[in-house]
This record gives sequence, structure tokens and C-alpha cells, in this order.
Amino acid sequence: MNIQKAKGTYDILPNQVYYWQHLENLIRKICETYNYKEIRTPIFESTELFVRGVGESTDIVSKEMYTFDDKGGRSLTLRPEGTAPVVRSYVENKLYVDGQLTKLYYMGPMFRYERMQKGRYRQFYQFGVEVLGSESPIVDVEVIALSVQLIQALGLKEVKVAINTLGDQESRKAYREALINHFTPVQQELCSDCQKRLNQNPLRVLDCKVDRNHPSFAKAPKMSDYLSPSGKDHFDTVLNYLDLLKIDYVIDESLVRGLDYYNHTVFEIMSNVEGFGAQTALGGGGRYNGLVEEVGGPAVAGMGMAFGLDRLILALEAEKVAIANQNYLDAFIVTMSESQEALAMKLLQTLRQNGIKADKDFNNRKVKAQFKQADKLNAKFTVLLGETEVQQNRVVLKNMKTEVQTEVAIVQLVNELKLRLEE
Ligand code: HAM
Repeated sequence: MNIQKAKGTYDILPNQVYYWQHLENLIRKICETYNYKEIRTPIFESTELFVRGVGESTDIVSKEMYTFDDKGGRSLTLRPEGTAPVVRSYVENKLYVDGQLTKLYYMGPMFRYERMQKGRYRQFYQFGVEVLGSESPIVDVEVIALSVQLIQALGLKEVKVAINTLGDQESRKAYREALINHFTPVQQELCSDCQKRLNQNPLRVLDCKVDRNHPSFAKAPKMSDYLSPSGKDHFDTVLNYLDLLKIDYVIDESLVRGLDYYNHTVFEIMSNVEGFGAQTALGGGGRYNGLVEEVGGPAVAGMGMAFGLDRLILALEAEKVAIANQNYLDAFIVTMSESQEALAMKLLQTLRQNGIKADKDFNNRKVKAQFKQADKLNAKFTVLLGETEVQQNRVVLKNMKTEVQTEVAIVQLVNELKLRLEE
């Protein structure tokens, strides 16, 4: 029986991995530019963290978690997202003691038991940032600016930033009540998920895909009517600074996001490119004042976002952004006979120790086949060990593009190759 990959997972093969490496390198560079430091947290955490942090009424916690008991009877969960773990680590390691702003980023696999479709997997990859220790709306702008810079640096053009505010705790409470009052008379007509959500988290009713066309939705109360003056101030400052930095956005009052911890600013970055598929959100995030306390820490404000790396790769493909394939060799050693094996291996080691990307054949192939292999591996040069040349301590260096061949003394090979590779 063939054993196949688990449903909702996929392999990233060597001929695709350079896309990922390009993306990861760019992410690290941009995070460094913005002074964010990397944090790495475990792949699994205690289940309680996500129940408390992400929220019991969310789809993630109620339906999508990979939860299991370990042999010691502890309930553990493969992380479905990165914010709760980062906040847990921040509290546990007391990263807040010096009262500084803490700016963190992370990359890695996340797990959600979701219905598979293009752009939606059960193991997927996120890059996220979290800023802990400031209530300033300008931090929200920095996080959005970083996200937009990544999109631009990747060369993606068909992208839209949607933004909304959920207000502060006070505004959110007033809005919550207004939504309950509005939808309760029609509660029985809504889908079973929304009937439950209405009392637990009525904001989530607004982004229900099933009930979206129910007549009650068009007349639903709007958050903007319930914003307290401080909630409005916060949002206005965010918008003003986005204008100042010339970052384009659209206000989308139906944007509520799928996790419970948000307040004030929420945003999403969507792909508009044709044929991208149904899952258009490349990334999203928002402010989560209150989460640090929920996880047992002090009253520290938070703001962050996460991109789905899988979806960024799909967007690069959909927009046909060309990325240089890094799969090449500086040199490939070709031997005329088995008797040169020891010399070939010694030379190969010398080249590699001098930082030259090199390889050779290990299957005693004929000379012609070795040259073919060099071609396939995109070797810039071949180093041919010919019988007579080797006797004179020389090799034949061939430029695979120009096909020009030159004899080089073995002791000069590293220097000669380095010079020519720079040309
Ligand atoms: P999220 O919106 O649940 O937010 O996920 C962020 C991004 O991860 C999505 O926009 C999407 O690109 C990607 N993603 C989510 N689920 C899947 C999936 N099943 N398959 C492929 N990609 C997926 C969060 O996770 C928050 N922790 C973001 C955040 C950070 N908010 C504040 N700080």
C-alpha cells in the first residue's frame, strides 16, 4: 500500500522551495528594517491557551483545533495561530519587565482542521508580527506599513487593504447589544452557527457567509454609530497617518475578523488578481488590548498581523512574478576514468572549502553523461580531469555558456575559478 500525505498537507519540493526561500529572506530583511526581533515558540501548547486566548465561540476553537491528550493526560493543541503563543511566551518570560515596546516576528507552520480548497490547508505557514506595550494608534499604522512594504517588495500589485474599527471595550459593548437587539427577532431564520453566535459573539454574525443575503443584514446597525469618542479618535488617527504615509486602503464596515481578541483597528490584505480562488485574504490582523491580561499577564496593549505564506506564494504565481531560480552550480567535476576518483573527491572538497558551489557524479557515468548532468544542474563551469593533463597536474576548465576551454594548473584552480565567477 502506498502511504500518502495527510489530507490538507502538501510537500514543498526542491523545484518550488526557492520561492519560499525568497519570501523568507525578504521577510527577515523587512523585519530587521522595522526593528522587529524573531521569536520561536513551540508547535504545540496547552489547549487552554487557545480556548482562553482565541475564544471559545470562534470557528478555530469550536471546530478546527488539532487537540490530543499526551501520555501524561495533558490536553495539548497544535497551534492554530501565532498570537496566543507569542503572548503566552511574553508573559511567561516576563519580556515586559523593562517597560519597553516589544516588537516580535515569527514564521512557521500552523494547523487548522478546515475544509480543503485552493489556498486553504490543514497545515499552512504564517509569518506574523506582534507589538506589545503601546496603545498608540501609530503602532497600528506601523504594522500596516510593514505589511504593505512586504507586498510591494514581493512585486504584488493586485492587492487591496481593507480596514475597520471594532472600537474600544465600551464601544464594542454598546454595539454588541445593538446587534443582539437587531437580530434576536429573526434569530430562528438564521443558520445554526449564527443562532449560537448571536449571544456569544454577535459581531461574528456579520461576516456569516450563509446568512449574508438575509434581509436583516442590510439594515444591521453599524459600528461607526456606536463608537465612543476615544474609539473614534483612535481610528481617525490611524486613517490620518495612513494618508500621511500614502498607504491606500478602503474602509469595510463588515470586516470583523474571525478571532475574539480584537478591538479598535482590524485590517485585511486581499488579493484582487483574477483566478486567485475563493480564499482572497493574504493576511490580516488588528489590535488586541486585553489579551495579555486574559493570558495571565499585566495590562499591556497589543497589535499584530499575520500573512499566510502559502497564499503569498499563490499570489506570486497568479500575478506571474518572476523569481530567480537559485538552483545552479559554480563547478561540476568530470572524470575520464575511475582511477581519478580520489583526485576528483580531493578537488571537490577543496572547492567546497573555498566556498565554491560544486558537485560531481557518484555513479561512474560516462563522460558524455557527466556533461549532461552538469548542464542539468546549471553548472557554470566544468572541471575536466583528462588523463594527460592530470599527469602534468593540470585540469581543463570549460565555461559552459561560451564553451571556451582553458588548461589550468591544479594549484591555481580555486583562484582561477573565483576570478572567472566574478566576471
Ligand atoms: P487569521 O486571519 O486567522 O489571523 O490568519 C492570518 C492569515 O493566515 C490569513 O489571512 C490567511 O492568509 C492565512 N491562513 C489562515 N488559515 C489558513 C488555512 N487554513 N490555510 C492557508 N492559509 C491560512 C491570525 O491567525 C491572527 N493570529 C493574526 C494576528 C496576529 N492578529 C494579531 N496578531
